[in-house]
Amino acid sequence: MVKVVICGAAGGIGQPLSLLLKQSDLITDLALYDVVNAPGVAADLSHINSKSTVTGHGKDDMDAALKGAHTVVIPAGVPRKPGMTRDDLFKINAGIVRDLATGVAKNCPEAFVLVISNPVNSTVPIVCEVLKKHGVFNPKKVFGVSTLDVVRSSRFVSEVNPKIDPSTRVTVVGGHSGVTIVPLLSQLPNSFAESLSKDQLDALTHRIQYGGDEVVKAKDGAGSATLSMAYAGARFTLTLLEATVAGKTGLVESTYVNLDADAENTAAFKEKTGLDYFAQDVEFGPEGVGKVLPLPQVSSYEQTLLDAAIPELKVNIAKGASFITDSA
Ligand code: NAD
Ligand code: LMR
Repeated sequence: MVKVVICGAAGGIGQPLSLLLKQSDLITDLALYDVVNAPGVAADLSHINSKSTVTGHGKDDMDAALKGAHTVVIPAGVPRKPGMTRDDLFKINAGIVRDLATGVAKNCPEAFVLVISNPVNSTVPIVCEVLKKHGVFNPKKVFGVSTLDVVRSSRFVSEVNPKIDPSTRVTVVGGHSGVTIVPLLSQLPNSFAESLSKDQLDALTHRIQYGGDEVVKAKDGAGSATLSMAYAGARFTLTLLEATVAGKTGLVESTYVNLDADAENTAAFKEKTGLDYFAQDVEFGPEGVGKVLPLPQVSSYEQTLLDAAIPELKVNIAKGASFITDSA
């Protein structure tokens, strides 16, 4: 059995994400959990003639949804409105994510946990601290889904230079908000970054860092990215399943992880930066994180971006972790 649970399945991300995952033969059981309308979404999706069975679970049915899960994907919580930062969502989403992580600890402590709910820089530490509190934390199994930053980077780079295929992967490190999103454009082939003027590089970097705001503004109060996020979330989930269920090797995605997931390869970076969490290219293995790949040689432009990202990340991480460690 390969059971995947979507928490927040009836939402703007949850519905298209569930639809995309319904198409995968790697999943046998798709469990949709939400505090509203999950049975309705599940009934609809369950008529699709792909391999998985679909169950819907309402607000009093979280335990049944989570029992036996292989992977739990969490897009539950409120999205931004224009003028808000992701950190403004902390007040509501921190408690939602804490309660779902508690459900994971009690019902499926071995599950992979994929956190989409914002602010990701803080919600991932919340999940990790809850799992630690219950004695079931495995840093190889908890991921902040920052794939949308990679998807956007690939797309925006190909718009700047149409010779670059939009499927070209861009390494994006740091975190998932504003200045903490650091695209390593210097890693692209054919000296792409060097071919840009300083103004072009600034504009492209800014667009990647604030791509979320572009959507929030365009939706004008109706939420934030949902369809592109569902695409990115499905891509990340399915890559993880390819590695952990189908045994494929050499699969890499950028993702925000606790650096103890690969203590050996991250010790020097942790020591240098004082960070416990960081988004970086990760090679998947059968247990989730196989290797956190070393940060490549960055350009001086990217080093300046990293220098701005690190202090903000530290604040975000401490805020998430202390939300759990300071509570009784
Ligand atoms: P939405 O409001 O459309 O959907 C959220 C869903 O969560 C709703 O159906 C709601 O009923 C449900 N929910 C609320 N509390 C719950 C709980 N305790 N248990 C289960 N379900 C619960 O919002 P959305 O647009 O789908 O966005 C969801 C979250 O994803 C937001 O926090 C948003 O900021 C974040 N997001 C992250 C990324 C990323 O790149 N990581 C991208 C886009 C959005
Ligand atoms: C995004 O990057 O689109 C998401 O984090 C949603 C947001 O609030 O911008």
